[in-house]
Amino acid sequence: MTPDIKPFVAGNWKMNGQRDSLDQLALMARGVDEALFDKVDVVVCPPATLLYVATTLSEDTPLMVGAQDCHREAKGAHTGDVSAEMVADCLGEFCIVGHSERRTDHGETDFHVAGKAQACWRAGLTAIICIGETEAEYDSGRAEEVLGRQLAMSVPEGATEKDTVIAYEPVWAIGTGKTPSPDDIRDIHAFIRDVLVERFGGHGERMRILYGGSVKPDNATELLSVNNVDGALVGGASLKAQDFLAICESYRKV
Ligand code: PGA
Repeated sequence: MTPDIKPFVAGNWKMNGQRDSLDQLALMARGVDEALFDKVDVVVCPPATLLYVATTLSEDTPLMVGAQDCHREAKGAHTGDVSAEMVADCLGEFCIVGHSERRTDHGETDFHVAGKAQACWRAGLTAIICIGETEAEYDSGRAEEVLGRQLAMSVPEGATEKDTVIAYEPVWAIGTGKTPSPDDIRDIHAFIRDVLVERFGGHGERMRILYGGSVKPDNATELLSVNNVDGALVGGASLKAQDFLAICESYRKV
């Protein structure tokens, strides 16, 4: 954790969830009560098809809702895409950009990611900008080099703690059950913090840096206890309300 930064837990449902999953979302909305919200900000990012119903279900609760991606433009001839303005129109407040699955599946580059982050800001959304090295990059000791480049090019000038959250997700830890050691996470998060402070001054000091990749109820407390880990981006374990709320609760206790 970083002193004075409120922890933040975001659930990324990826391409999972149909209407029957809304029961889980309703349970999450009920579970994120004022006492929990006092200690931790909680966001769920369902697929775009469920976004508007999700914001309706979580209305009047502290649970916040976000999208998993957006186009850099506000509207136009881009078949299949969703703009940040559309997310805001559905009452979403956040949008994940630059997830490694989008970088891999859709060839998104740092340049695209920066454009999407700016689109989020334009629409009044907070961008959750993902960065992360591959296993080969990690094994060859190039993680900081890769992350430094991604931070320089994916995070646009003028980012603040209000409009931007950084998510460090080692690609090799996503959905694999593997995580870096707490010492490795501490070193990488310290590196990310230094880069952010150098570029954005006080905003960089206050910007939230999440860890993502195989976060589960049984390792969440250990991970949040690491310096400069201000929360988690949770994939698989965010699909079930019980697991997701257990992760949020463990962050409340830290
Ligand atoms: P995971 O995914 O928690 O299933 O590893 C994390 C993510 O991709 O955001």
